[in-house]
Amino acid sequence: MTQTATGRAINFSAGPATLPEPVLEQARKDILDIAGSGIGICEHSHRGPVFDNVINEAVADCREVGSIPDDYEILFLQGGATLQFAMLAMNFLKEGSIADYLDTGVWTSKAIKEAKKIGNVNVAFDGSATKYDHCPSDEELNLSQDAAYLHYCSNNTIYGTRYENVPTTDAPVICDMSSDIFSRAIDWSKHAMVYAGAQKNLGPSGTVLVVIHESLLAQCEGTVPLMLDYKAQASKGSMLNTPPTFGIYLMGQVFKWILHAGGLSAIEERNETKATIIYSALADRGDFYSLIAREDCRSRMNISFRCQTSELDSLFLEKATELRMSGLKGHRSVGGLRASVYNAFPVEGCEKFAAFLTEFADNNS
Ligand SMILES: Cc1ncc(COP(=O)(O)O)c(C=O)c1O
Repeated sequence: MTQTATGRAINFSAGPATLPEPVLEQARKDILDIAGSGIGICEHSHRGPVFDNVINEAVADCREVGSIPDDYEILFLQGGATLQFAMLAMNFLKEGSIADYLDTGVWTSKAIKEAKKIGNVNVAFDGSATKYDHCPSDEELNLSQDAAYLHYCSNNTIYGTRYENVPTTDAPVICDMSSDIFSRAIDWSKHAMVYAGAQKNLGPSGTVLVVIHESLLAQCEGTVPLMLDYKAQASKGSMLNTPPTFGIYLMGQVFKWILHAGGLSAIEERNETKATIIYSALADRGDFYSLIAREDCRSRMNISFRCQTSELDSLFLEKATELRMSGLKGHRSVGGLRASVYNAFPVEGCEKFAAFLTEFADNNS
């Protein structure tokens, strides 16, 4: 039976996804009693010294992990990445202006739909023509003059595509990094705002990390409901109301785990190794498996592929389940199979999966 060291299944889920085992072990203790207080993390007031310490450390560790400059605020908000689709447009897509959006699949399409309810949107790239098999080069962009901002998604969870370079524009760049935040270094000189739902690389679902430059905060005019106002949230340290205390705590633990692992450069190197193990196994049996993403923009987090028939895809899932490998079904919009191997996913899991890929192809061709 294929298992991790602690007897847990090998979890390839696209999100909520595998979390680092040392983080879960620590949480197991802290949920009963954190910092010797005799009270569990979910039971502490968010206005007391114990939680103050938790959130202050989470912000400081997040800044260190991401090498985030001091002129960016770090916010922990609610409503997941999906609420950001609306919230960012409500704050930054003003009347009479236009925003550029790059459509690289389901999640950006949803962001576009939300933004269109607020204001004018220019879809500067539409990937639907090539079934979202790649992220665009600068030459493929049809940008507008003086856009309020450009929105893109660095890693497309469903198709397994990622940008190698940040799109070039004069407008402030806002990025949905939900599925690859802190899997590689972030060039802050090219981003005005980055956001990420927590449930892939950071922690439990619902919580969202927002890193936002002060020049964007200055644009918030206090005209939107308070909870949706970045400036109001920043002015209260993400605590306008009762914040998602457990989510913030767990993210904080994940930041500590990344720092302990050697920071982003070590994490990135490990992610390269992991993805190479799986892509190589798929390439070796290129007669049997096909990849959804174009080769020059393959994600290191989500590897989407298929066998030659949907019957073989189903059999693949059945055999994988017998080996306690779970979460491998592709997203319903593309079908096929998908292995999500976020930061916390172990190298050994990739090695076992590569061996399974080879064995399955040998047994079924
Ligand atoms: C890239 C991307 N953006 C946004 C979302 C939506 O996140 P949430 O469910 O937290 O709203 C997802 C969810 O998988 C995603 O992969």
